[in-house]
Amino acid sequence: MLVLGIESSCDETGVALTDASGAGVPRLLSHALHSQIEMHQAYGGVVPELASRDHIRRVLPLINEVMGQAQRSLADVDVIAYTRGPGLAGALLVGAGVACSLAASLGKPVMGVHHLEGHLLSPFLSADPPEFAFVALLVSGGHTQLMRVDRVGSYELLGETIDDAAGEAFDKSAKLLGLPYPGGPALARLAGQGDGQAFKLPRPLLHSGDLDFSFSGLKTAVLTQAKKLGETMSEQARADLAASTQAAIVEVLVKKSLKALEQTGLKRLVVAGGVGANTLLREQLNAACKKRGIRVHYPELHLCTDNGAMIALAAGMRLQAGLEDIQRSYTFDVKPRWSLADIQTVPA
Ligand code: KG4
Ligand code: ZN
Repeated sequence: MLVLGIESSCDETGVALTDASGAGVPRLLSHALHSQIEMHQAYGGVVPELASRDHIRRVLPLINEVMGQAQRSLADVDVIAYTRGPGLAGALLVGAGVACSLAASLGKPVMGVHHLEGHLLSPFLSADPPEFAFVALLVSGGHTQLMRVDRVGSYELLGETIDDAAGEAFDKSAKLLGLPYPGGPALARLAGQGDGQAFKLPRPLLHSGDLDFSFSGLKTAVLTQAKKLGETMSEQARADLAASTQAAIVEVLVKKSLKALEQTGLKRLVVAGGVGANTLLREQLNAACKKRGIRVHYPELHLCTDNGAMIALAAGMRLQAGLEDIQRSYTFDVKPRWSLADIQTVPA
């Protein structure tokens, strides 16, 4: 069973083809991605209207590229999947519109996928795929959540951020330090030259006793420090502040993940979403989990941020689990705001 997946929820157009025949993890046959980072960089962040227009320009050439790479034709595709939400409404509509019209023209079923389910399942495409059940730490630009995952479609929210997401904390702090969008990778690079203990920054909700996060206070503390240092901040001070910010975010993510593992008694952790690419986070999680006999799984680095592979994978896994009806109606809507807890979790 061949699944074509289309991702267009934010600033990446991603397309991929998976083979979900049989019961094993769907195989990734090909994937292609166009990142809009360069286009949005001039504005210091994502401009939604520009994002939608660029998805329109990119999506069909990317579909052709993916089919060519896999040496398949569109007639071979069994299901067309697209990101239905959450994300930018206009951007989502491009993927949904293209998926549904393509499916209608081919007479094939279509399927709307939850973007976060894609992230969460993306480590299944790695060389070291997880087994159920596990705790998932989902850290993207818009979400920071800890979840208990017992099987495909069974996602119990254990805790989440009450304000900014971890990726947002990286991005906003980076902006305060004069770094370009997207701030996460830029801040991490600068942090490599700094001392993470140079500035004492808050670790919000670290001892709250629950599994919730809060990052907006951290951003304010970074702003206060940056103001104190003023315009003439030395390169070393900037690197130290970047390193201290990263250290604070990572410490909270690691401690809360360990607490979730302790609370659930599970011995497996899956990390997904853009911030999952962060090297310090990976190092610290690996070290802490090794000590406790816990296995940690990550997506391949290039599949941490948004991509089509995770959408084609999630669609394939949901079909294999019997969670989806084969849908031949081509009317569609998108869900810019959509909680993972609201997706269908019982067989169709
Ligand atoms: O999952 P993702 O691609 O998009 C959303 O669904 O939001 O995550 C993007 C987020 C951005 O906030 C970006 O700055 C952050 O992931 N990010 C990183 C790194 N790579 C991406 N944050 C810290 N360190 C990184 N290496
Ligand atoms: Zn994402």
